[in-house]
Amino acid sequence: MKFFVDTADIEAIAELNAYGMVDGVTTNPSIILKSGRDIMEVTKEICDLVDGPVSAEVVALKADDMIAEGRKLAEIAPNITVKLPLTWDGLQACKVLSGEGKMVNVTLCFSANQALLAAKAGATFISPFIGRLDDINLDGMELIEDIRTVYDNYGFETQILAASIRSVNHVLDAARIGADVMTAPPEVIKKMAAHPLTDQGLAQFMKDWAKTGQKIL
Ligand code: E4P
Repeated sequence: MKFFVDTADIEAIAELNAYGMVDGVTTNPSIILKSGRDIMEVTKEICDLVDGPVSAEVVALKADDMIAEGRKLAEIAPNITVKLPLTWDGLQACKVLSGEGKMVNVTLCFSANQALLAAKAGATFISPFIGRLDDINLDGMELIEDIRTVYDNYGFETQILAASIRSVNHVLDAARIGADVMTAPPEVIKKMAAHPLTDQGLAQFMKDWAKTGQKIL
């Protein structure tokens, strides 16, 4: 499973990158707002830091304008993935931009039918939003399962990018189903390392080691 980091926080990306945990980065207008940075500048910095796909989202609503914005964003770096909303206009922009050889991430996906359309329009990634479905008492993970089934039935190569991940259990469940990629905030990725038995076990080892009076270095 590829790990994308859902942030524009350069320090957080650099930290996780040093651990080999960053296969790519996803941003959106809310993430750019949170960063307080200029979209072109911060996205360029991320692209310089990370080898994998870096999603930068268009904000136009009409296909022609999305295409123009997508082309401009794609000029930032070769690893830019143009992020487009799953609207009828977004699908048209997806078809055009993917036809030009650009990577496209179709976002705000909440149904398997939407995911089917994105695959047919040539999306590189489809981003089903797990957490936001859970928020309204629907089952986000069921959507990942449905998309996996539909894509596998027909051999679509669009990668399932499990998004809106809020917990470590979301990561594990998406991995069990076989989502190709997941994108999560840095804190969720770091929490995956935590286990109380690891902490307890380590404390005991430290205690016993101190009693030996030995040193390795
Ligand atoms: C990913 O591409 C999305 O921007 C992100 O995962 C949305 O997450 P949220 O629902 O926590 O805002």
